Amino acid sequence: MYFLALESSCDETAAAVFTEEPRVLSSVVASQMEYHTPFGGVVPEIAARAHQQKLIPVIDEALRQAGIRLADVGAIAVQNSPGLVGALLISVSAAKMLAMTLHIPLIAVNHVAAHIYACRLAAGRDIFPCIGLVVSGGHTTLFLCHDALNLQMIGSTRDDAAGEAFDKVSAILGLGFPGGPRVEQEARTGNPKAFAFPRSMLEDPHFDFSFSGLKTAVLYTAHGQNVSTIRPLPADQRRADLAASFQQAVIDVLVLKCRRAMRQFRIPRLAVGGGVTANQAFRGALQAMCAKESAELLIPPMNLCTDNAAMAALAVEKWRIGDFAPPDLDAQPTLQ
Ligand code: KG4
Ligand code: ZN
Repeated sequence: MYFLALESSCDETAAAVFTEEPRVLSSVVASQMEYHTPFGGVVPEIAARAHQQKLIPVIDEALRQAGIRLADVGAIAVQNSPGLVGALLISVSAAKMLAMTLHIPLIAVNHVAAHIYACRLAAGRDIFPCIGLVVSGGHTTLFLCHDALNLQMIGSTRDDAAGEAFDKVSAILGLGFPGGPRVEQEARTGNPKAFAFPRSMLEDPHFDFSFSGLKTAVLYTAHGQNVSTIRPLPADQRRADLAASFQQAVIDVLVLKCRRAMRQFRIPRLAVGGGVTANQAFRGALQAMCAKESAELLIPPMNLCTDNAAMAALAVEKWRIGDFAPPDLDAQPTLQ
């Protein structure tokens, strides 16, 4: 049984083929980075147009790499929520049309749940129950994961996502786009204790996050209180210290809330996904915390952390219980 999965929730156009084990036979991702870089961030309409252009060649390549034809596909999976609505609609429309013309089931996959499922896919065995953290440009959400399809949200960001904060701080420091990797690079030579930036909601008993106050603190420290135009900072020790101190503040909050969730629910297993997981300092801090807690840490390889269609192998779990999507399936921009 072959599944073809599509993904276009943000700025990656992706298709993957997997079997019901699940075993991934191909995973193709076309980046749109070059289109968005001049604008300093993802432009939703440009993203939708680029998906529209790239999706068919990406599907073609995924089938070719898997060594199968379209007629061999037994079910279509699509990540229909959450994401940029115009972007999501491209793969949702294509998936519905494919399912209808091939007379095969259509399976809707939640993109955030799929980020957690990437850990299951990489582990190659059951990982549930676990605490799950999805930390990307669009999400900072903590889950109590009972099983692959039953994720209970226990906390989320009240304003910016952690990746979004990295992108905005990168702009504040004049480091450019994409922000995360650039701030991390700059932080390598900085002192994480140089500036005492706020750790919002660290002491609060809930599992919500807030990063906008931190972002503003970096802005005022970098440019003063009366900012009208942001000028790039000189490439000196102060800029590196700002980057390192900001990064440490984000890491401290994320790691502590994960630890608290594992302790409170007595589940010593943590699954982490999303683009921010590329950050080596973050990975190191998670590893140190989990080692201390005698907890198991699951982080997929990079190609499964950032947006992709292979993690939609979560569709296999839905297929097993006959949970198929209706032919009028819609794109849903928010996490529900
Ligand atoms: O999961 P992803 O590829 O796309 C979605 O947002 O769904 O995540 C992208 C986010 C961006 O905000 C980017 O700045 C952040 O992940 N990111 C990083 C790093 N690499 C990517 N943040 C911190 N450090 C990094 N090395
Ligand atoms: Zn994502």
